[in-house]
This record gives sequence, structure tokens and C-alpha cells, in this order.
Amino acid sequence: MLLTGIMGSPLKSLVHDDDRYQRSFHLFLERSSEHQCMRDFIHSKLPDILSSIGDGKSHLNVIGVGSGAGEIDLEMLNELHKKHPGVTVDNEVVEPSSQQLHNYKVLVSQKPELNYIKFTWNKMTASEFEERWKLSETTKKADFIHMIQMLYYVKDPGATISFFQSLLDKNGKLLIILVSGESGWGKLWRKYRHELCNTEISQCVTTGDIKSLLDSKGVSYHSFDLPSQMDITECFTEGDEKGELLLDFLTEVLDFNKTASPELKDGVLELLRHPDCSMESEGRVIFNNNLGVIVIDKPN
Ligand SMILES: C[S@@+](CC[C@H](N)C(=O)[O-])C[C@H]1O[C@@H](n2cnc3c(N)ncnc32)[C@H](O)[C@@H]1O
Repeated sequence: MLLTGIMGSPLKSLVHDDDRYQRSFHLFLERSSEHQCMRDFIHSKLPDILSSIGDGKSHLNVIGVGSGAGEIDLEMLNELHKKHPGVTVDNEVVEPSSQQLHNYKVLVSQKPELNYIKFTWNKMTASEFEERWKLSETTKKADFIHMIQMLYYVKDPGATISFFQSLLDKNGKLLIILVSGESGWGKLWRKYRHELCNTEISQCVTTGDIKSLLDSKGVSYHSFDLPSQMDITECFTEGDEKGELLLDFLTEVLDFNKTASPELKDGVLELLRHPDCSMESEGRVIFNNNLGVIVIDKPN
């Protein structure tokens, strides 16, 4: 599907401009409770999930896919350490953005207490990692694999889940976090999927879609809802630079405001502030950024 903007020119995906992508993602983190709701989950529910992995081993293998700057990964590794003190960890980081990988390395360098973890930096996409793993014919297995807010960027989320699930060791867990099907994102994508989602490089996929997929394959899983919000008020001020960055993040389109047709722009902005997607509170427009967590075991 070719996405068309003004003058029939194709809309470019934000993913093609890593610098702008990272700036818009950073602003999104500032304007939302995205990481806070993940931290709440990591400290309340994740410890029980992590306590069951490893099967008594003295060494654990972890794989983080699309780790970004690693803030959330390190919080999870900290909980893992609390549940399995004295255990060494091999942590494979799979992240294609050199900027993000650099930020992650800087964060780790500031924490000497992480010396029980060996970090392996894989500057590559999930599918490149899969290809390399298969070529190496390794028999290595993983105890904990996570893919947090990244399945949008793979060509075939179902195949990616199957591959990483196949790497799980006995009692291993695969943790996926995506936006919930009931979030504002879900509503936006249900209406504008064809205009906004270039399925070659980005999928408008929610935990609702993943649950349906797993149900259809008979794969069992546990799931959790993470309530979250995002202040999108600036998107409605014409010419506001930050509003434009946030709009790029919401639509995944590079320079959405400048390149989308007036009809698409008006339609998207109207839907974004519609009660289906947002609520208005004290003059602010608060977008529903609810997330969902899915936890999958090793295949039977
Ligand atoms: C929305 S960010 C999430 C980062 C982090 N997991 C978090 O929640 O803070 C998505 C991350 O996935 C990475 N990414 C994009 N395409 C990818 C791919 N094909 N395979 C693996 N990671 C990818 C991006 O570089 C980015 O760091």
C-alpha cells in the first residue's frame, strides 16, 4: 500500500529518520506516563514472573529486543538480580539504533554494580539477529526474553514471536509490551490503518491483535493491563514544534503536519481529541496510552 500525502507524493515513515524518531520518542516519554506504568508493573507483577525462571541454574541468559536506551531493561535486570542473587547473567541487547545503543552503554558504564552481567551489544534489527542466530547453529537457550514497544517495527510480528519463543529454555518467559487494543492508538489505527501504516516497515499492532493471533494458534499466555496517559495538547497548536514532533510519533509519519493531505490531517486531529481517544481535563487533551503485557512460556 502506497501512502500518499499532498500532491500524491508518498508519506515517509518516521522510522527512516532515526534522529527525528529518537527526538519524538524522547518527547513522548516526557509527555506520557509510558515508563512510569512499566516501572509499576516491573516492581509489582514482574518479580513473581521472574522468580519462576532459570530452573535453579547459576547462570541466566537474557535477550532484550528493541531495548532503546536501556532504562527499562536495567530495571528488569535489577528485579531479576533480587530474585536470583548470586547468579551471573548474559544479556544480549538487540537494538538497530546506534544512538540508542550508545545511550544504553553510557548508562551501564555508570553502574559498576552491574558487574554480574555480561552485555553483548548487537547493533541490528530483530530479523538480522534471527538470521545470525540461525547461521551460528548455536544450541544456546534463553531464560528471559523481552520485546517492549518494538513489535511495530518488524515485518511479521507473529513470526518474530514464534522465533524468539523457540529460543526459550525450560521455565523461560517471553515478555511483550505493546499498546492495548482499547487505547487511543488502537482507535486511531482502526480508522486510519491504510493511510498511516506502511506494512513493510511498521505495523499498527496492539496486544489485542497479538492475543487473537496466539489464540488462533492455541498458544497460552498471561496478560496484564497497564493504564497510561499522554498529554497531546501541543498537537493542536498550529506551528508548535513540539506538537509537530508528537504528531509524527502518533502517526509514525515523518513531518506529518507538512506532508499529509489537509483531509488526512483534519481527520487525524479530530479523532485524536475525540472522546474515543482522549479526554479533556483542565484545558489539556489527554490521550489514552494504555498498554498491555503478554507473557508467553516455552512452546510445548
Ligand atoms: C518505542 S522504542 C522502545 C524502546 C524501549 N524498549 C522502551 O520501551 O523504552 C522502539 C525501539 O525499537 C527499536 N527498533 C526499531 N526497529 C527495530 C527492529 N526491526 N528490531 C529491533 N528493534 C527495533 C528502535 O530503535 C527503538 O529503540
